[in-house]
Amino acid sequence: MARRVLRRRPVLSGVAGTESPTAEPWWKAGVLYQVYPRSFADSDADGVGDLPGVIAHLDHLEWLGVDGIWLSPVTRSPNADWGYDVSDFTSIAPELGTLDDLDRLIAQARRRGIRVLMDLVPNHTSDQHPWFLDARSARTAAKRDWYVWADPKEDGSPPNNWVSSFGGPAWTPDPGSGQSYLHNHLSVQPDLNWWNEEVRQVFDGIMRFWWDRGLAGFRIDVCNVIIKDAELRDNPPATEEDDLEAQLFGQRSVYNANRPEVHEVIRRWRTLAEEYDAPRVLIGETPVPVGELAAYYGDGRDELHLSFNFPFISAPLEPAAMRSIVEETEVALPAGAWPAWTGSNHDMFRLATRWAEGDPRKVRVALMLLLSLRGTPVLYQGDEIGLANTELAHEDMRDPLGVRYWPYYAGRDAGRTPMPWRDAPGGGFTEPGVRPWLPLGDVHACNVESQRSDPHSTLTLVRALIALRRQEADLAVGAYRTLPAPEGVWAFARGDRHIVVLNMADRGATVPGIEGTVRISTEAARAGEPVTGTLELRAWEGLIGATRSAPTTAR
Ligand code: GLC
Ligand code: MG
Repeated sequence: MARRVLRRRPVLSGVAGTESPTAEPWWKAGVLYQVYPRSFADSDADGVGDLPGVIAHLDHLEWLGVDGIWLSPVTRSPNADWGYDVSDFTSIAPELGTLDDLDRLIAQARRRGIRVLMDLVPNHTSDQHPWFLDARSARTAAKRDWYVWADPKEDGSPPNNWVSSFGGPAWTPDPGSGQSYLHNHLSVQPDLNWWNEEVRQVFDGIMRFWWDRGLAGFRIDVCNVIIKDAELRDNPPATEEDDLEAQLFGQRSVYNANRPEVHEVIRRWRTLAEEYDAPRVLIGETPVPVGELAAYYGDGRDELHLSFNFPFISAPLEPAAMRSIVEETEVALPAGAWPAWTGSNHDMFRLATRWAEGDPRKVRVALMLLLSLRGTPVLYQGDEIGLANTELAHEDMRDPLGVRYWPYYAGRDAGRTPMPWRDAPGGGFTEPGVRPWLPLGDVHACNVESQRSDPHSTLTLVRALIALRRQEADLAVGAYRTLPAPEGVWAFARGDRHIVVLNMADRGATVPGIEGTVRISTEAARAGEPVTGTLELRAWEGLIGATRSAPTTAR
């Protein structure tokens, strides 16, 4: 990957009114928050979170200070993969609400300065989608070519060697027509054929349908996968240098993902997004190495606005490992491109468990990191209270992967359990006595209400960090620069006058060469404390400071 010089526009402080300290677009200076609707809040006591539940908790999101929410799928689905198997792209799943609820959510969120984004799942549909029902009805069906069909080999084996990212062959035979269809996930999630112009057009219409209602953008599911090799060539075998996933599947995803032609489709979407007065935002799920991530931003203006950085999510909470990914990302992205940082999502488990092993000090350092890097932080519901995974019994599992692979892999449900709002039966998620679709964790140990009134809680810290970003353009959009720091400490400058110093070690640290004032610490009430030469940090303490001159000297 060629190294490109970063060019940045000057930051104009305070010109955009009260919403942002900069002239940058909202999604750049702001903070995003992923809502997993089934587990956020249940308004009608059926045990399933829903859109009215999201509306009822907008006060929390506004109080927290987030600028946008991304809703995991709320469109109609048989829920084989919990909404990621869509059977109608332009209607709302009845258990989650109605189109009217979505319109109300968009309008009420907007009044509170919060934009609403949704998931878009263009790679595949449910096998119950009318398009697929038509496609599989006959080889001559009108929508046959909307999906990927191929003849089995002469010996009856699958058309090629591709494996589904959920395991097993990526092809399922269709006895009716004698051909097999492709699916990169479950066999009930047939992949669409993105070489087909009608498919492209129908998705243009789907995007416009939601954007015309005021939706602010989409998170695009498996964005890097949608186009496959036109000749359906076999993937090459994995080598020892390949990543874990390739090793696991025994092959490298050369022909069933990351094809160059995907960029043509993303550019088409970007053109559509830019037709809107407030251009709509495209955020890609792009699980690729950093060197390949840059390509999904195009020239920095013509593809995705934001791309999820999976190497960062997957890295351990260690300064050297994480810093090198951040530095690599800073160099790799084209001018005008903007990183996105996240530590948890509905697939990857919760950062409080994965990164912090339940240690609240580590949780807080991780959250300070996410909220102080150059780029858009995307919090996952529950991150703000340091919510950990909930371990589940086999019989409680709802994720098809957990059900299928237990006990080797427990699936993704541990990170999807309901949001604990209060220390009460039902956790404030649902009514007492109602059985939630996934069990609640320990609502006494961790809940929003108790943390909201505690000045030393993780929630209070996260809110203060978001507020500080909003106040200081340096922290929202200022340049990132690594500063020298002792072992175990990651120090970096943001913009002209701010430094972030994270002690990611089990012992205290002394960082010399710092002159300024503490703005916020993860561990103690140190705001306003002057620093004259030497900064002392506790074990696993993170701190943001304002410096008197451009920060360069920490060593
Ligand atoms: C994405 C989603 C995941 C889903 C898969 C198939 O990775 O985040 O939850 O299972 O796509 O749609
Ligand atoms: Mg409900």
